[in-house]
Amino acid sequence: MRALTLDPTTANSLQVTEVPEPEPKPGELLVEGLAVGVCGTDKEIARAEYGWAPPGRDRLVLGHESLGRVMTAPPESDFTTGDLVVGVVRRPDPAPCGACAHGEFDNCRNGDYTERGIKELDGYAAERWCVESDYAVALDPRLAHVGVLMEPTSVVAKAWEQVRRVGERAWYEPNRALVTGAGPIGLLAAMIGVQQGLDVHVLDVVEEGPKPRLVRRIGATYHHGDAEEVAARLRPDVVIEATGVGSVVVSAVRNTASYGVVCLTGISSGGHAVAVDVAGANRVMVLENDVVVGSVNANLRHYRQAADALAKADLDWLDGLISRRVPLAAFADAFTAEPDDVKVVIAL
Ligand code: BGC
Repeated sequence: MRALTLDPTTANSLQVTEVPEPEPKPGELLVEGLAVGVCGTDKEIARAEYGWAPPGRDRLVLGHESLGRVMTAPPESDFTTGDLVVGVVRRPDPAPCGACAHGEFDNCRNGDYTERGIKELDGYAAERWCVESDYAVALDPRLAHVGVLMEPTSVVAKAWEQVRRVGERAWYEPNRALVTGAGPIGLLAAMIGVQQGLDVHVLDVVEEGPKPRLVRRIGATYHHGDAEEVAARLRPDVVIEATGVGSVVVSAVRNTASYGVVCLTGISSGGHAVAVDVAGANRVMVLENDVVVGSVNANLRHYRQAADALAKADLDWLDGLISRRVPLAAFADAFTAEPDDVKVVIAL
């Protein structure tokens, strides 16, 4: 069967290759791959800036934003043939560390976790794949067209959970949220913010195109332009930062309302130094009880929260996030950005 594979140590080594048919081990589902989403991490791996092949192998099957349909399921599992499923990205470290032992592998403490399609485990960009039934999450059958958004939604579900847990260390009633970045993570974060009844604002650099439209369609307010000016004017209770851009991060941290929470989700590529008055930022954060929290990946609880958020969402709106669907053979098109791209998906 065909899979999208690469050598993570060699830039531009992505290729559709023939790989052996997967054979489910006890407790595993055999799944027909429907689609994989392409994100910044996939592009980094394709540029050989991130990613690890399975031990003893040169090539890794890419793809961590999965969607598939169950072909066979163990009788003792909660799945049956035809179920729509996604596979979870991360697996606990073998030790396991305390966090992994508690099912919170998204917070792994020793870094020895593995990730499908990213770190030492084959991903989901294959015509068929296997997954342990304990690491598969069922989706509402209505989501067949858009369920590939599940993994990025799990990442923002976790981010929102972190914000709430941090906020609830004392009396907490947030009202206004600013999301910086209107890519898939930012837009899905805005969607969850609106679902929670918050006054949601989204900031990006573009003036027109699908991003402002998508923001307005969920009843959030779109802003473009200078992050410092917008954040200072809004003074948000919560910021979900989804750009990873240094200057935007600094503006977010400096301009929250008192008792503000900034959740950082953007994996910066680095390289652009910004001058920061750390003592000044420290003074504001102390005097306002502010918190900045980083958030990556998602555990099973967050996947379930994401499944609920997607099931509640407007399917047309979700479909609007998927700008292009390219066939596996044309995978290279998915790695070449086009101006109106939000999420690009490879159809398997
Ligand atoms: C994925 C996460 C993963 C992270 C780091 C992100 O693109 O969405 O699941 O933990 O990359 O590898």
